[in-house]
Amino acid sequence: MNSDLITVISDRSDIKYTEWISRILGSRIYLGSPGNQSANKTPFFLRVSGNRIQLEFPEGRCKPFMPVIAPGLPARGIDPLLRAIGTKQGKVIDMTAGWCVDASRIAFSGCSIVAFENSPLVYVLTQNAIEHCRLPLIKQRLVLRHEDSIQALQSGTMDADVIYMDPMFPAHKRNAASPKAISLLRELVNRPDHTQSFEKMFELAMSSGARRVVIKRPHHFPAIQKGKVGEIKSKQVRYDIYFPGSSIAY
Ligand SMILES: C[S@@+](CC[C@H](N)C(=O)[O-])C[C@H]1O[C@@H](n2cnc3c(N)ncnc32)[C@H](O)[C@@H]1O
Repeated sequence: MNSDLITVISDRSDIKYTEWISRILGSRIYLGSPGNQSANKTPFFLRVSGNRIQLEFPEGRCKPFMPVIAPGLPARGIDPLLRAIGTKQGKVIDMTAGWCVDASRIAFSGCSIVAFENSPLVYVLTQNAIEHCRLPLIKQRLVLRHEDSIQALQSGTMDADVIYMDPMFPAHKRNAASPKAISLLRELVNRPDHTQSFEKMFELAMSSGARRVVIKRPHHFPAIQKGKVGEIKSKQVRYDIYFPGSSIAY
């Protein structure tokens, strides 16, 4: 099995989607057709049916997966993520888009948000989910870019009131049953250099001119850096808040 390749199985009813995926995934793509066995040669494959793209697994290893952009309201009170973001109209950058679950909640609250995703496979699936989102407001306010957020911030052309990041953290033993969408992300973007790249991300965010930086952390993980000015806790995670340039430490 070649883990660098991704098979794309297309019914060719909407060829423009297959061509678009080929452009994003480049040489990593291996084109198959429905019914042939090529999908078993790669750890995942993408099935394109009409204008829908879903992730599938050889020999039924897991159920097919398709991200859905449908932000809901929290069960009670104000969403802790939105309290941490602290603005309902501002410009937000999400440096770690993933399936855009968080970015779509931020957009739904009223902010405009640019989200960066550097994994081509995650980008293709999430972008397709945004196109199928039934809420026009989200499509107006959420822009997903297939780009490395570190490079985008280094270019100096991005500005935002708030910068948000949700670093990938290892699965916690006590929480082996993490939701399917999260464990899938871990499997798809399993890169060794995560810690270093998040330190760089944080450093850039703090010097970007944004007035607030928010980082999602598991409860049992320490803050990424000293100097946070606040934290908002939800049942599952903690949002650490930093004010670049502030001397107030928490
Ligand atoms: C834990 S997931 C984020 C989940 C996301 N908050 C959500 O709501 O679905 C982290 C994501 O950040 C992406 N990522 C990591 N480093 C990145 C970078 N430098 N630029 C863009 N995306 C990055 C990973 O590919 C992964 O999809």
